[in-house]
Amino acid sequence: MRQSVKILLLLAAGAAGLFKKVAAAPSDREINSKDEQKHSKLTLWQAAKVLILAGVAVGVIGFLVLISGLVPIKASSGHWRVTRWFLTFAMHRSVGTYSTPIEAPPLSDPVLVQKGASAYENNCRVCHGSPKLPHPPVAQHMLPRPPYLPHVVSEWDTEELFHIVKHGLKFTGMPAWPSQQRDDEVWAVVAFLLEFPKLDQNSYRGLVGTDAAAEFGEAFDQVLRHCESCHGPQGMGRGFGAAPRLAGQKVDYLYSSLSAYARQQRYSGIMQPVAARLNEEQMQRLAQHYANLPRNLPTETPDAAGAVERGQKIANEGIREQRIPACNSCHRQSGPRNPIYPELSGQYANYIVLQLKLFQREQRGGTSYAHLMRHVAPNLSNDQMQDVANYYESLAPQVASAAR
Ligand code: HEC
Ligand code: HEC
Ligand code: HEC
Repeated sequence: MRQSVKILLLLAAGAAGLFKKVAAAPSDREINSKDEQKHSKLTLWQAAKVLILAGVAVGVIGFLVLISGLVPIKASSGHWRVTRWFLTFAMHRSVGTYSTPIEAPPLSDPVLVQKGASAYENNCRVCHGSPKLPHPPVAQHMLPRPPYLPHVVSEWDTEELFHIVKHGLKFTGMPAWPSQQRDDEVWAVVAFLLEFPKLDQNSYRGLVGTDAAAEFGEAFDQVLRHCESCHGPQGMGRGFGAAPRLAGQKVDYLYSSLSAYARQQRYSGIMQPVAARLNEEQMQRLAQHYANLPRNLPTETPDAAGAVERGQKIANEGIREQRIPACNSCHRQSGPRNPIYPELSGQYANYIVLQLKLFQREQRGGTSYAHLMRHVAPNLSNDQMQDVANYYESLAPQVASAAR
């Protein structure tokens, strides 16, 4: 950074010196007669003409070289050192400038790191590698080469990493984040990148699930193992809410959520690429599979200072003065309209809070029924979201929905 400013200053000083010299040239001399004055004007004009002509000539020659097809765009031939320097310099300057207004949220939450690790494994490892294979052989033949990130993350500020991961890098093959609507997943990836240099092969594998589960195969149980790497064995979740519990969720809701992700109507740079690879039959089978699994909750969740009780009141009665309807009028409803309202009981509280915040910021998207939440979420305060989420996490799911 300091070096680049120095170079810029040097260039500016050079240009200023040159300009001064040219501008000062005629007045330095003693110009007595009008003839001489005219003569000097003429030489100045002639010099300008030569410059313009030279510029045009260079442009024409450049264009001719371009249409001749002689400029190599082969990745195999590499860059000249000066081209590489120039491109890297331009990239650092641009990322630095555009990331200035960004402010990083707290990133030490292990749930964020876990979520970011799974996202990295699925969206980035193919180019940037993992402790097991830091330099994937095919990606090493890209130009520029995707670096092994633990070696370079310290060169960037947290906000700069966010900017790169969210927007990608033009002319390099580094893609933008698949869903531009929301930033929380990008921050999760950044939280992981900050931890990445500390990880060895085992701790990396622990964060992302087993090696086998990471591969997305064709056979149904391979697909299922892929889901489990994030949603946990039996769909009961792993990583304290990095991904939601699916076991015992309603079959219609599961199916239409998968199809909403695939059609980019529900926004998630983590789930969209997964869902887009599923065909119709796989989606239906997966929905059926998870709906039929029991949501056996591990232990009682502790009630944080009466939060469950306050949450229960909101869920049962709503909050009239904030025009918030009773959540249970939809979410614990049985009857013909039942299948479209997701089961919240026994869901991770932090996942519920996150979804409510996404609804509030209009960043969630969802199925064709998601608009029903539009009038609910905006009026809830952060504390009320936490209370009602704690209430649902503490509830056992309704038997009817688990045993379809
Ligand atoms: C298709 C290959 C590809 C994928 C997938 C990919 N990247 Fe990149 N990435 C690149 C390339 C190429 C560069 C540019 C390297 C350069 O110019 O030095 C890059 C650069 C970066 C950089 C800047 C590092 C540096 O110092 O050059 C970061 C950070 C990064 N990628 C993170 C990610 C993350 C996180 C993901 C997943 C969400 C990801 N990348 C997915 C190819 C990829
Ligand atoms: C890389 C991790 C990852 C993998 C692999 C993954 N998921 Fe997800 N899944 C998530 C995350 C994170 C969310 C929450 C996304 C959001 O905020 O919308 C999610 C959400 C979902 C939802 C919506 C649940 C709800 O309550 O709204 C469904 C359904 C789902 N996943 C099914 C699947 C299935 C089926 C597979 C396997 C084909 C799968 N997922 C694979 C991470 C993953
Ligand atoms: C009018 C009916 C209705 C009411 C009232 C309602 N919801 Fe919902 N809610 C829905 C529907 C429908 C969805 C599914 C959105 C979709 O399909 O994408 C949903 C989704 C959600 C989700 C996301 C679940 C997931 O797995 O991703 C949460 C969290 C949620 N609601 C919480 C609440 C809370 C808290 C309240 C009360 C303050 C509430 N809802 C009141 C209809 C309602």
